[in-house]
Amino acid sequence: MDETSFIEYLDVKKAIDDRSLNSSVWHALVATMPKATRDHPWQVLELGAGIGSMIQRLIEWDFLHFACYIALDASPTFLSEASNRLGHWATHNGLGVQADKSGLSISDASHEIQIQFVAQEAQQWLSAKERFEQFDLVIAHAFLDLVHLETTLPLLLKGLRNEGLFYFTLNFDGLTVFEPPLEESLDEQIICLYHRTMEERLAGNQPSAGAYSGRRLMRVLHQAGGDLLRAGASDWVIHAVQGKYPSGEDRFLRFLLQMVEESLSERSEIEATKFRYWLEQRHRQIDQGQLSLIVHQLDLLGRRISG
Ligand SMILES: C[S@@+](CC[C@H](N)C(=O)[O-])C[C@H]1O[C@@H](n2cnc3c(N)ncnc32)[C@H](O)[C@@H]1O
Repeated sequence: MDETSFIEYLDVKKAIDDRSLNSSVWHALVATMPKATRDHPWQVLELGAGIGSMIQRLIEWDFLHFACYIALDASPTFLSEASNRLGHWATHNGLGVQADKSGLSISDASHEIQIQFVAQEAQQWLSAKERFEQFDLVIAHAFLDLVHLETTLPLLLKGLRNEGLFYFTLNFDGLTVFEPPLEESLDEQIICLYHRTMEERLAGNQPSAGAYSGRRLMRVLHQAGGDLLRAGASDWVIHAVQGKYPSGEDRFLRFLLQMVEESLSERSEIEATKFRYWLEQRHRQIDQGQLSLIVHQLDLLGRRISG
């Protein structure tokens, strides 16, 4: 998918993520973070920040008031989109906005949020010693499946101050279901292959957390220096209501089909005509408001093990 389409995908995804985030994990985060003030702002790091959806969400949900926020992403295009979008959104909502070369400042009587955009590869950026023990909160949303957990997670946790929290959300966990079934064996073959492409994806020259990033995170967390405080499911469940999808969600389903199509197009394990038939039928189900999608994901909240 090209960057323009991916931006559109992230845009539609925001509302779906808003309702999918696990509320018990979210409320535990809200209850555990100490209060920030203008004089003592939170130091926040977000990895894989994309077009800035999480920053917007945290302000909309009345969580982020006073903060120095580093939004890191490997793509300068996404970060520049993040800066534009957040600037427009904040202005539209009556917040003051100032932009300069490295970032954006959003403020009013109850907000002062300095956002710095960093276009760099996450592991490289985290490896520098000056990042250690810097952050009160580290966020990674729909991101950790893309990295090698055993090397990235210890670095991420080292970035936290004593008592600092991590909030790792929407970690894909091995289940994609398109309903209703077309032909069960064909559905199964396609989904298995789709997950396999995630399992084979490399982060640099190491395996990425892949299709089971949620449970793998839980497995390696303690060894990496993290204590789990709360975990819960943040599944996407997308369906039409009386034949119509909520705003933009049919587009989201088509984006997911495009991802399946792109990841399997070079695979010899599936017969091209069968795959084409499957895709056409799935698109037709969207046209008719009949396709539903369930994707299993996990949210994790925790803190660095002190000492
Ligand atoms: C699935 S998107 C999620 C974006 C955003 N968190 C959201 O959910 O709207 C993953 C993001 O991670 C970024 N990314 C992927 N690998 C990265 C890496 N190794 N270092 C930094 N950013 C990376 C991509 O550019 C992309 O913006």
